[in-house]
Amino acid sequence: WWKHLENAPPDSILGIKKIYNMDKNPNKVDLIVGAYRDANGKPVILPSVLEAEKMIEKKYTDKEYAPISGLPQFNQLSAQLLLGPDSSVLCNQLNATSQTVSGSGALYVSGKFMAQFFPGNTCIYLPQPTWANHEAIFKFVGLEVAWYRYCDPKVSKLDFEGLMDDINKIPEKSIAFFQGCAHNPTGVDPSQEQWCEISQLVKKRQLFPVFDVAYQGFASGDFYNDAFSFRTFLQDGHKVAILQSYSKSMGLYGERTGSCTFIADCKSEADTILTQMEEIIRKTYSSPPIHGSRIVVEILADENLKYMWFQEVKMMSERLKAMRNALKENLEKAGSKHNWDHIVHQIGMFCLSKLTPKQVKKLTDDYHIYLPADGRISVAGLTTKNVQYVANAIHEVTK
Ligand code: LMR
Repeated sequence: WWKHLENAPPDSILGIKKIYNMDKNPNKVDLIVGAYRDANGKPVILPSVLEAEKMIEKKYTDKEYAPISGLPQFNQLSAQLLLGPDSSVLCNQLNATSQTVSGSGALYVSGKFMAQFFPGNTCIYLPQPTWANHEAIFKFVGLEVAWYRYCDPKVSKLDFEGLMDDINKIPEKSIAFFQGCAHNPTGVDPSQEQWCEISQLVKKRQLFPVFDVAYQGFASGDFYNDAFSFRTFLQDGHKVAILQSYSKSMGLYGERTGSCTFIADCKSEADTILTQMEEIIRKTYSSPPIHGSRIVVEILADENLKYMWFQEVKMMSERLKAMRNALKENLEKAGSKHNWDHIVHQIGMFCLSKLTPKQVKKLTDDYHIYLPADGRISVAGLTTKNVQYVANAIHEVTK
């Protein structure tokens, strides 16, 4: 039956991880996937998560199905983390929040929902560049995809003029997509003043804003600061959608834990939106997994555990900053004459290095250092033990 099939192209990020896993070289370095590693390059289970798991073991004696839209307490606490405990949206129950299969599941559910029901132009405008799966998922669910200028990787600076110019030309009643903080892959975010201007322009153009929030806490080490973009839009009266992931912030990568929130005009509209999201979820994967969302509930509902988690996220974001500094310092020590300031100016989990695909290939072929072809470095893969090796290799391929 399937003789006519050709191989699908390898994934631009996870496909490289597959090749990395097969490499037997002891010096190989993984700068591929955005997943946190400790100072020894090992994956981490956060102590707060371990505590939560102990509590779950004592508390639950079932592995029952979750409701279609997930655990109600999870949805409530997740919306609170995004919007703040005193949010008027929450007080007035204007949020339709559903648990999803992490951030990608939230992209899928929201995308499908918008493709089916968005009353305007079902074209979503993405920042150029953005995480490859944004375009892939939105096209897959039937949205049209177009772009606005965001960051020229060669300059590694927000192209604010280009962004405003392009957003100003988006047809009214279209969908504008943003990353809430710690932009993947560029590590470049608008300033708070720029977010305020973007919000006003999006309002003027009557666009529907959608925020992907996969890195709350990772940009500044502070959950409140990292919520500035979408909370500003809400204060300005936008009705937004917010797609949330706990993969990075709680290290729940394989637990596939996230949420999708649409903000409505009134409670009954929110209730209706939720029923339609449930319809999509039921037909796609029926209901979400329970372990990750139970962990989130234990942590967010317990003030001590929540505080412990905040400190852990801060610690992770500080290690990333230290590794950025170390990479730049080591490049300079190696004698590189290029300007590497962008490494320390960028924020979050990634550094868009300005390496060309040819230089990336040489890094992999000659030094067993793996990263996506666009030159994105997952800073979490750097450690005090490998940073000098990586810097020397980058210096060699950029001479
Ligand atoms: C990344 O960008 O590396 C992560 O979000 C993991 C992924 O699925 O691509």
